[in-house]
Amino acid sequence: MSLALDERRRAMLGEMGLRLFPSPSHRRQVVSVPIESVRPAADAALQPAATGIELMEWDALAQAVAQCRACELCNGRRNTVFGVGDRQADWLIVGEAPGESEDLQGEPFVGQAGLLLDNMLKALGLNRRQKVYIANVLKCRPPGNRNPEPQEVAQCAPFLRRQVQLLQPRIILAMGRFAVQALLQSNEPIGKLRGTVHRYNGVPLVVTYHPAYLLRNLADKAKAWADLCLAREALEQPANQAASGR
Ligand code: URA
Repeated sequence: MSLALDERRRAMLGEMGLRLFPSPSHRRQVVSVPIESVRPAADAALQPAATGIELMEWDALAQAVAQCRACELCNGRRNTVFGVGDRQADWLIVGEAPGESEDLQGEPFVGQAGLLLDNMLKALGLNRRQKVYIANVLKCRPPGNRNPEPQEVAQCAPFLRRQVQLLQPRIILAMGRFAVQALLQSNEPIGKLRGTVHRYNGVPLVVTYHPAYLLRNLADKAKAWADLCLAREALEQPANQAASGR
């Protein structure tokens, strides 16, 4: 094995605290590598969103999300949060955006709101890895968990759209106003939209409260349960079963 290290590796090892003896070439010519050149700059330039998203398969799509630098949120993220679950799922649950725990773990709904969501799924005899897929409108955490900005939602929308096309769920549960705005293009309050089966590109869609809202408004949990039951009913409609072919 060659012990010769190129300048970049030497700089990286130096960063990790490993002291290196100069290589023979170093004895002749000392080249200093500014550490900025081996780390991605925190504010590296934004780039247009990936092209061809509408044709990507799952792995390419996940990679495009992981590499996305289409909006400012990429500068503060620790991980992108693509989605989790069964890629043959009947149920697609759509939330808003990663929070702190999700940003750390790269998985949606792993904080307090996620615990409640898991319990809601359990009450339906489901879990997040079987027959269920969970994704968010935004794949990167907004700083301080602020609300998503319209241009962030617009940049991220093609990823969610493609996830729905690939998944072909039998039912979509839109949780909270940002999921509703992104999928139904509606600014109506949740209270007005719930109780009806809507459609997103032909897929039945039920609107309900976001679990984080339910944690603060316990009285509305009963309404959320009614929404889940409506979603299950819509999924079980014979027309919907035949349309999905599963
Ligand atoms: N809230 C969301 O909308 N999504 C998550 O992944 C976590 C919290």
